[in-house]
This record gives sequence, structure tokens and C-alpha cells, in this order.
Amino acid sequence: MRHLLEVDDLSEADLVSVLAAAANRRPERILEGRGVALIFEKPSNRTRNAFEMAVVALGGHPVAIRGEEIGIATRESVEDVTRVLARYHAIVAARVVEHASLEGMASVDAVPVVNLLSELSHPSQAVADLLTMQQRWGTLKGRRVAWVGDANNVARSLVIACSMVGVDVAVASPRGYELDEATLDAARSRGVTVEVTTDPYSAVGGVDAVCTDVWVSMGQEDEAAERVEAFRGFCVTEELMLRAEPDAVFMHCLPAHRGMEVEASVIDGPRSAVWDQAENRMHAARAICEWVVSE
Ligand code: CP
Ligand code: NVA
Repeated sequence: MRHLLEVDDLSEADLVSVLAAAANRRPERILEGRGVALIFEKPSNRTRNAFEMAVVALGGHPVAIRGEEIGIATRESVEDVTRVLARYHAIVAARVVEHASLEGMASVDAVPVVNLLSELSHPSQAVADLLTMQQRWGTLKGRRVAWVGDANNVARSLVIACSMVGVDVAVASPRGYELDEATLDAARSRGVTVEVTTDPYSAVGGVDAVCTDVWVSMGQEDEAAERVEAFRGFCVTEELMLRAEPDAVFMHCLPAHRGMEVEASVIDGPRSAVWDQAENRMHAARAICEWVVSE
């Protein structure tokens, strides 16, 4: 049984295959007559729409379910929820408040489980982001990417994904918001360089892509004031982009806050890849669904 809780649940070879499959716009209808449960304990625009349309493209029927409708661990245990959904669906995909819920779903091993974002990781976003880079650059290996801002769920999955395809990374975060050691060790063990700094200008020097995300993730609203204070100086500005390669792209998983983590002229300017990233969520979703149901 295949599950995708973090991007390194794929082997490096699987990741290459998934990226190739994502480019195939005429997929076989491998989910014909089958359902896919899409559970959302947190809001979503891109992920829900991307996965719904991906499932439809594969001939399947997506059923989107809000977290409160099934009440994981309140109305019913996560294991029982999954055992039941496995009787209707080819895949159970979930955006959860606690990553442990995904682990509980996968532990039942009754149906492939896909992570649609947890507080720890966002693997389908990372696949879409690599796809976006590959479309622009052709070859990924040897490229350099900077992450500026919160070393959050999106950052963690992106750093792991980059390390799996030979992309070096520099991460600039304020103290207290850095990438965890386990992720750094795992990425570095694959042979890439992962530089950690508190200086965004040093991180973006000569990179091919500058990536960022919100300063306040879903579920962190109580910390908003202190986070906004801590991340001052971590806005991706035009001035910051000047330090990157002349053709470097700006990337953001969205939703974005102009004037906070990114200057409007950057996200709305010629270097921005954000709309391609958003579209690529759907192509990545299709390839991920194909991978989890394949032998
Ligand atoms: N990037 C992303 O996951 O967007 P949503 O939260 O809108 O799904
Ligand atoms: N880090 C953000 C990503 C949203 C797609 C969050 O978790 O809210």
C-alpha cells in the first residue's frame, strides 16, 4: 500500500517518474468508477480544486468533506474514519490540523493516504514546485533555490524535494523560526548544500529561484502579532530579487500577502511563477493519485 505523507515517501526515482507523469496531459482513466475522499480540516482553494480536477481527469469521482462533517477523533477515531472511507474510495487524501491524524490513517493500511497539508509538511505543493522549476529550467540538478521567511510546512517539504533532485538550497529565517535539524540532516545526507542563515540577502545571492510563504500559517493566528514583528526584514522585495540570478523566478505557494512576505511588484511582476505553480498543483495532484494507486 502506497501513502504520501511526506515527499520522501517517494524514492528519488519515483519523484522523477511523478514529475514526468505530471507532464502527461492525456492520462489514462485509472480511477474510472472509483471515488477519492478529500478531507479538509483547514481552508483550501488550490489544493481542493487541483485534486478535484485531477480525480475527474483520471475518470474518478472526488468527494470533498469538511473536517467538522466527520469529526476526526471527536465523532469517530481516525482509524475508523479511514476503514469506512476505504470501502468507498480508491484514495483518502486529507488536510489535517495534526500530522498524527495522517499517520493514523496510513497505519490502518486499508487505502492509500495522501497528505494535503499538515502542520509539518505539504508534499503535493513541493511536487508542483519542482514541476514549475523543471518547466522553466529543463534540468533541475545543479540549480540553487533560496527560501526566505518562515521555515514552515511548505519550506520543509520543498527542501526535502530539492535535495532529492540535486538542487542546493539556502534558507533565510529569523532566529526561532529556522528549519529543524532532522530536515537539514536528511537533505544534506543526499549530497546537496543546505545553507542556513538569518540574512535574506546572503541567501538569495546568485540563486535561480526565490521562494517564500506566509508568516502566519493556518492555526497560528494567535501568534500573528509576534510573527509579523519577527519577520520584518524578510519581505521579498525587488531590491532583494536583484541579488538573485538575472532570470531568477519568484515562487509562492499562495495565498499571498502583498506588503508582508512579498512586495506587490515582485509577485505581480515578470519574474513571478505563482500562477504556473497554482496550475501545476493540478498536474502534480494527478501524478500523485496515479502513483499511490499503482503497484
Ligand atoms: N497552496 C495551497 O495549498 O493553497 P490552498 O491552501 O488554497 O489549498
Ligand atoms: N504555510 C501555509 C501554507 C498554506 C498553503 C499554511 O500552513 O497555512
